[in-house]
Amino acid sequence: MKRLSPRLKEAAALVRKVDTIADIGTDHAYLPIYLIAHNICRRVIASDLRTGPLENARANVEAAGFGDRIELRLSDGLTGYRADEAQDIVITGMGGILIAEILDKTPWLKRGDKHLVLQPMTHAEVLRAYLMANGYRILRESVCEDDGKLYCFMSCIHTNETQRFDEFYEYYGELPHSSDRLAALYLRRLAERCLREAAAIGATDQKRADRLRQVAKKLHQVTTEH
Ligand SMILES: C[S@@+](CC[C@H](N)C(=O)[O-])C[C@H]1O[C@@H](n2cnc3c(N)ncnc32)[C@H](O)[C@@H]1O
Repeated sequence: MKRLSPRLKEAAALVRKVDTIADIGTDHAYLPIYLIAHNICRRVIASDLRTGPLENARANVEAAGFGDRIELRLSDGLTGYRADEAQDIVITGMGGILIAEILDKTPWLKRGDKHLVLQPMTHAEVLRAYLMANGYRILRESVCEDDGKLYCFMSCIHTNETQRFDEFYEYYGELPHSSDRLAALYLRRLAERCLREAAAIGATDQKRADRLRQVAKKLHQVTTEH
């Protein structure tokens, strides 16, 4: 069996021990195979938007001998799922905007008993802003390193509470509460990216460049405070 990457291992570490886990955009099905091989859940529903990845997934699932415990399904986000089919939902390796769109098309996620594990490749701040505006609570965030790159994970539930957030929260979320040095490193790298982008924008959009400098300052502050 293929060794799971540190990034997908982090996803496996964040799911709850539940009966059924849904893996959205499964591609190769490496995560579902690991979850079953390690008895983290009884069953996985692994879905993808495209047939090509699902065929790959099917070959890997059959080679692992888990055809009876991993169901493969063609589905755009969670549109092909019923509300009662899975307790934990994993969406990794997609952009933060796409992840927010997938969540937005799935009203039953707001039932409160669902736990989401999300790993945006880009635009984590757009995803956090969506979660904050739609009654989700980020329980925990973590960062893992894989092949020299840092990846941010969010573990969330829907609570419908109104929460008060700092105006820059969407950029750092719960990461400052993590004692892991990688979380601080991730935020410092993000601050550097904001400063580089502000310098590149220069005078063409002074307002956006100023905002990015303020974000960088706040990120620096939160990494030194905690
Ligand atoms: C980069 S792969 C990530 C695979 C795996 N989740 C991981 O983290 O390694 C993204 C996968 O998401 C699938 N995908 C893209 N949009 C999707 C959607 N709206 N619904 C389901 N799957 C989608 C793609 O077909 C592709 O297989």
